[in-house]
Amino acid sequence: MSDILTIADLKDLARRKVPKMFFDYADSGAWTESTYRANEEDFGKIKFRQRVLVDMSNRSLESTMIGQKVAMPVALAPTGLTGMQHADGEMLAAQAAEAFGVPFTLSTMSICSIEDVASATSKPFWFQLYVLRDKDFVLNLIDRAKAAKCSALVLTLDLQILGQRHKDIRNGLSAPPKMTLANIIDLAIKPRWCLGIAGTPRRTFRNIVGHAKGVGDVSSLSSWTTEQFDPQLSWKDVAWIKERWGGKLILKGILDKEDALMAAQTGADAIIVSNHGGRQLDGAASSISVLEEIADAVGDKIEVHMDGGIRSGQDVLKALCLGAKGTYIGRPFLYGLGAMGKAGVTKALEIIRKEMDITLALCGKRLVTDMGKDQLRR
Ligand SMILES: Cc1cc2nc3c(=O)[nH]c(=O)nc-3n(C[C@H](O)[C@H](O)[C@H](O)COP(=O)(O)O)c2cc1C
Repeated sequence: MSDILTIADLKDLARRKVPKMFFDYADSGAWTESTYRANEEDFGKIKFRQRVLVDMSNRSLESTMIGQKVAMPVALAPTGLTGMQHADGEMLAAQAAEAFGVPFTLSTMSICSIEDVASATSKPFWFQLYVLRDKDFVLNLIDRAKAAKCSALVLTLDLQILGQRHKDIRNGLSAPPKMTLANIIDLAIKPRWCLGIAGTPRRTFRNIVGHAKGVGDVSSLSSWTTEQFDPQLSWKDVAWIKERWGGKLILKGILDKEDALMAAQTGADAIIVSNHGGRQLDGAASSISVLEEIADAVGDKIEVHMDGGIRSGQDVLKALCLGAKGTYIGRPFLYGLGAMGKAGVTKALEIIRKEMDITLALCGKRLVTDMGKDQLRR
């Protein structure tokens, strides 16, 4: 554990512990993966202003996201199949987030269900909704999230059809994995993962199976998505979902300022500037490169969050400087989970916290909420 100093260290360890099919599922983007790469690389182009001889004592990373207090403005992003990175992955990640004081967002396409995560936690978590053709099922999901006392609904707007990830097709991604020769050989060298999965009843999409009518084989994610996701989702749907939910609403997957302005008109509480971690429209801009333009366009009409490519506490601070009030990490916590279960998620959060704290001080600031454009070289 002591030689794990960066998110990249966690990624290396996860690569060794998690079956190839699921490691690749996390570490992949659509088509050429150009947007996936750009998400990370574009952070490197942004430079801080180093300041000296300012009081660095009593620093704080505390902030708020949609009015909720957070130990640092970094939430865990919704990620599908998290329970395949590690047995009971969503429950463990939610516990780690709760103990750390940051929000956990459960995906519709999770392995552990809303009820599983509620039973494993004592504070509210957030729920991410995909809108499916079966509206009764969508209403039922919203009601289940309410019953579980989720404190925000994150409505994902950028996945009505699935972007193509070559690795998933080549690996024959499914949950649980099919017993092909290649999988058997791979699983044979990942005994801990196998033991964990063998010891849990949570091995398929538990938000869906047994809840949605006429759902056949969900093990093939791509064919199920094509059949079930609603390609006609529109701004009008945001209104009825908002009404049915009645609580804090976050719209995820905005990458254009015109869409951001439309989103602000819906009365939602926040938008997430996001390209789904480079997993949908390959060739789209990196999230960080469009953040400032979008934040400037919406002003204080709606709170702005961002995700995509954050691999360090420095990346978080750069996003805050460019107008984000909060950020999300996807892969960094998945790598932690795959590497070391719950302790690995905590480790990912600790790495980010330490990097944020030192950077904040060296930029001459004591409060994370004071970071702004002035702290960047331009
Ligand atoms: C393995 C994986 C699964 C994901 N599944 C979902 C999902 O079910 N719902 C969703 O809204 N976003 C999903 N996302 C996108 C994330 O919420 C987030 O936008 C993205 O991971 C941020 O980029 P990062 O991984 O570089 O931090 C997924 C991302 C990954 C890596």
